[in-house]
Amino acid sequence: MTNAPPTGHCITFVNEKGGTGKSTLAVHLLVSLRNQGHAVAAIDLDSRQRTLSRYLENRQQHHPQLAGVEVVVPPLSELDSRSAAAEQECEQLRQLVQGLTANHAYVIIDCPGSDSPRSRLAMALANTLVTPLNDSFVDLDLLGQVEPEAHQVKQLSFFADTIWQARQQRALAKLPALDWVVARNRLTMLDARNKRRVNEALENLQGRVACRYVPGLAERVIYRELFPSGLTLLDLGGSPLAGVTVPKMTTSHLAARQELRNFISALNLPA
Ligand SMILES: Nc1ncnc2c1ncn2[C@@H]1O[C@H](COP(=O)(O)OP(=O)(O)O)[C@@H](O)[C@H]1O
Ligand SMILES: [Mg+2]
Repeated sequence: MTNAPPTGHCITFVNEKGGTGKSTLAVHLLVSLRNQGHAVAAIDLDSRQRTLSRYLENRQQHHPQLAGVEVVVPPLSELDSRSAAAEQECEQLRQLVQGLTANHAYVIIDCPGSDSPRSRLAMALANTLVTPLNDSFVDLDLLGQVEPEAHQVKQLSFFADTIWQARQQRALAKLPALDWVVARNRLTMLDARNKRRVNEALENLQGRVACRYVPGLAERVIYRELFPSGLTLLDLGGSPLAGVTVPKMTTSHLAARQELRNFISALNLPA
């Protein structure tokens, strides 16, 4: 790791599990920051699914009038040796982040739903780490094991340990401490009891794993249907630029947008 403090704020979306909402939250955050006029760049480390870069490509193709976002998809190494390939991929990411943070206020990294040396480096390079969790004890187990009744923490997970190592790497490199934020995603109104129990367990876990548990997003169709157009909730009901056709805003969309704003504001990003 470099000892030179980066100028831009690096935000990494990570969870070793797929489908928890990393790319969806990442794209909404970057559009929000971009709409506020900030210089934002994105790095899509999920070179197989490429959800984030595909989203932005759709945005560029169908709404070229909207402010664009620079997105880089670093390729995987083709070296045969696993350790040499990992080293090459990490060196490439290190240089990329160093370059992008030098001239962007925010750099957003979207990780794949699996563990790899490159994802671990993306965690260590982050000022803010965001982990979306689905509303289930299965997802919660990724942070730590909890007792079935009182939900006291029994044991921390490999993932929590990986984040601990990322914190140590930053401390050794004399970089500012990372802020680990956990947000629940796809909350449903139907299962209030489960919601309360997961909430209780997360309250217990946050002190043990040193994360901040912040309000997340409800399960809403709108997060799924806008992908082909490249639009986000934040583009509905008018656009910062004239001449762009966007779907009509409903009251449900308004509620969703407020929820999204609450989530983004809870990230406490530097202004
Ligand atoms: N709050 C939400 N409500 C409804 N669907 C969602 C929500 N968040 C994500 N999704 C959907 O869940 C799936 C997985 O989301 P994605 O962001 O691709 O997760 P990840 O990047 O963690 O694999 C996608 O189909 C996405 O559209
Ligand atoms: Mg993804």
